[in-house]
Amino acid sequence: MELKENTIVNSMPRIGDLAPDFDAVTTQGKIKFSDFASDKWIVMFSHPADFTPVCTTEMSGFATRKAEFDALNTQLLGLSIDSVHAHLGWVQNVRENTGVYFDFPIIADIDMKVSKLYGMLQPNESETAAVRAVFFIDPSKKIRLIMYYPLNVGRNMNEILRALEALQTSDEYKVAMPLDWKKGDSVIVPPPKTLDELNARLADNSVEKIDWYLAKKNLN
Ligand code: BEZ
Repeated sequence: MELKENTIVNSMPRIGDLAPDFDAVTTQGKIKFSDFASDKWIVMFSHPADFTPVCTTEMSGFATRKAEFDALNTQLLGLSIDSVHAHLGWVQNVRENTGVYFDFPIIADIDMKVSKLYGMLQPNESETAAVRAVFFIDPSKKIRLIMYYPLNVGRNMNEILRALEALQTSDEYKVAMPLDWKKGDSVIVPPPKTLDELNARLADNSVEKIDWYLAKKNLN
């Protein structure tokens, strides 16, 4: 299949960047992102379109697990290139059908301004719908982790929560997380950066040493 030339002016924020600022209309009123949810983490996620099947399962997943995001001091913020009127209709439709209520703001990005600012429009996937992006933004508004999924594959809520908890635990304890880390597992302590630190690590029996550069400890 021939790929289209990418003519959409799309910025692609990267991990470590300050999250680009914007004003937006949402299902819970207008927001200015730089003032939004101060002192909280933000998980901002796009979905391709209201009233579509995969999106309905994903939004319902965010809604039913909202208490877990609250417990991690994290504000949810949805987005799609639909009007606020469509968002309201969809929220009400899902509430009527399933009892699940999307109790977090959903941006009506009808002019695609935010989608373009965050690289959510990926024209060889769709020129009119945002892909399934997830931006993990810390309380200083720095982007810490980015996920992009295509239109036909729903995201994994366990992984979104795991990654959020991993970022927060890493910040709190100044450690790194190994493959498949989950809360309660041991964590990786930073490797030595000098020979003195290496010698100290070799003599340190408080950590589980696989080798001098790979050592773990339990946070409990
Ligand atoms: C869906 O959510 O099911 C969907 C949305 C846009 C394109 C394809 C699938």
